[in-house]
Amino acid sequence: MSVLNNIFPQPEGIPAEWRLNGFIEQREYLVNGELRTWQGQMNEVISPVSLNNSGLVEKNIIGSTPLLTEAESLEALDAAVNAYQNGTGEWPTMSVAKRIGHIELFLKEMKNQRAEIVKLLMWEIGKNLPDSEKEFDRTCIYIEDTIKGLKHIDHGNSTFENEEGIIAQIRRVPLGVALCMGPYNYPLNETFSTLIPALIMGNTVVFKPAKFGVLLLKPLLNVFKVCFPKGVINVIYGKGRETVGAIMETGKIDVFAFIGTNKGASEIKKQHPKPHRLRGVLGLDAKNPAIILPDADMDVTLAECVAGSLSYNGQRCTALKIIFVHEDVAEDFTKKYVEAVSKLKCGMPWEKDVKITPLPEPGKSAYLTGLVDDAKKYGAVVINENGGEVNDTFFYPAVLYPVNAQMRVYSEEQFGPVVPIVPYKELDEVINYVVQSNFGQQISIFSNDPAKVGHLIDEFANQVGRININAQCQRGPDVYPFNGRKDSAEGTLSVSDALRAFSIRLLISTKDNAANKAIVGSIVREHQSNYLRMDYIF
Ligand code: G3H
Repeated sequence: MSVLNNIFPQPEGIPAEWRLNGFIEQREYLVNGELRTWQGQMNEVISPVSLNNSGLVEKNIIGSTPLLTEAESLEALDAAVNAYQNGTGEWPTMSVAKRIGHIELFLKEMKNQRAEIVKLLMWEIGKNLPDSEKEFDRTCIYIEDTIKGLKHIDHGNSTFENEEGIIAQIRRVPLGVALCMGPYNYPLNETFSTLIPALIMGNTVVFKPAKFGVLLLKPLLNVFKVCFPKGVINVIYGKGRETVGAIMETGKIDVFAFIGTNKGASEIKKQHPKPHRLRGVLGLDAKNPAIILPDADMDVTLAECVAGSLSYNGQRCTALKIIFVHEDVAEDFTKKYVEAVSKLKCGMPWEKDVKITPLPEPGKSAYLTGLVDDAKKYGAVVINENGGEVNDTFFYPAVLYPVNAQMRVYSEEQFGPVVPIVPYKELDEVINYVVQSNFGQQISIFSNDPAKVGHLIDEFANQVGRININAQCQRGPDVYPFNGRKDSAEGTLSVSDALRAFSIRLLISTKDNAANKAIVGSIVREHQSNYLRMDYIF
C-alpha cells in the first residue's frame, strides 16, 4: 500500500472554509480601462488538488480563463501605447506624488482581497497555507517598500549638482510600454515585483499572468480598473504564441519583464524587430548547489538543506537543486537528511503543518520519474523510503545518492521534489561544477572554518549573484539585490533596483550664469515643472 494512496480528499471531506464556491468561469479581461467579456474559446484550469471519488482519483477542473487571440492582444497593446502616447500621456507625465497615490489606492483595495487570493493560491498551484499567506503579505510589503523606495530616490534627486560650470538636476523617468509576465510558482509576488515598479515609474503595461495561478488575479481585475487611468494596465490571457508573440513582433514593447525559463525568454526576445530598443528584466533558471564541508555544523546544515531543497516541493528558482557533501560526512548527512524528509508531512495545502503538496504542472510526476530512472541507470539509488512514489499529481520526494555527472539530474533543473546528493573528495570538483555550469544564480556553503569559507567566497565571487554562508539560497529580504549570471538572469531586482530597471535618467542642465539661475530658480519656486523641482514627497 502506497503512502500516497489516500492523499487526495473526497469532495465532502474538504473543510468548508477552503471549499471553492463552484466552478470559476472567468471570461473578463482588461483592456483600455474596460472589463471586456470574452465569448471565444476558454482554457481549463486544472487544480493540482485532484479529487478522490469513491477511491478513484479524478482530475479537478476548477475554472476556466480566456484563450484570447492575436486581435485582443494587439488591442491591449494599442491601449498601453495610447496611454503612454510616446511619453506625453497622462500617466507618464503625472507627478510622482500623484502616481504614488494611485499605487497606494491599489494596495488598499488589494488588501481586501487577501482571503480569496490566498485560497486560490492553494487551489491553483498547491502552495501550502502559511506560504500562500506569506506570498500575499510579502507582496503587500513589497509594494509599501517600493513606494518608500521611490520617495527616497525622489528626495535624493530633488537637488542640483554643479560641475564644471554646468548646473544639473538628475531624475528618473519611464521607459515606455512594458510587457510583464510572471512565473507560476510565485504568480502574485514575483509578477508584482516587476509590475508595480513598472507602473509606479510611469510606464504603461500589458500584463499576462503565468500559466498557473491565473484565477487568483480575477479579484484584482476590477481593482486595476478602478485604481488606474484607462490603458495604463491591461491584462490579457491565452497561449504565449498567439498573444505575446504578436505583441513582440510589433516592436512597440520597450521593456520586457519576464520570470521563467531562459529558453522562453530568448524566444520571446528574438521576436522584437529592434532588439536594441528592448530592455530585458529577466529572472530565469537556476541550479543552485549546496556545498557541505566536513566541519559543517550538521544541525544547521540539515535544517537549511531540507528547507532549501524541499520547501514548496523544490519549486523555487532559488531552491537548492544539488547537494555536494564531503565524503567524510556523506554517510552521516544522507542518513539524517532522509530522516528529516520522512518527517515532512504530505497532504493538501490547507492541512496543518503540511509541507509536501501536489504539483501543478501537467506531466510533472512523469518527468520527475524519468529523471529518477535516468539517475538509477547510472548508479544512483533512491535512499528514502517511498521516494519517487507517485499518485497522479503527487510525487513523494526522491532523495538520490550517489549522483554523478553522467546523470541528467546533475545538470538539469528539476524544479520539483527530487534531491540529488553528490559525494565529493576535493573541493576542486565542486568549484569546477559551478564554473562550468550554465547557471549562476546562488550558492550555499556550509562550514565553520573561516579560512575555507573565505577561500570559497573568492572562488565563487565571479560565478554567482549571491553566496550564502551556512544558510539556504533565497531571494529575500526583497531590499537586497536579486540577480544571476549566465542563463540565470538579466538585470538585478530589489526594491530599489527594480525602480531603476523600469526607468531611465533624465538630466536637466544649464550653464552656471545669473540669467539661467534666475530661470531655474523661478521654475522651482513657482512649481512650473513636474520634473525640475525641489519639493519633498512625504
Ligand atoms: O522562484 C524564485 C523566487 O524568487 C524565490 O524566492 O527565495 O523567496 O523563495 P524565495
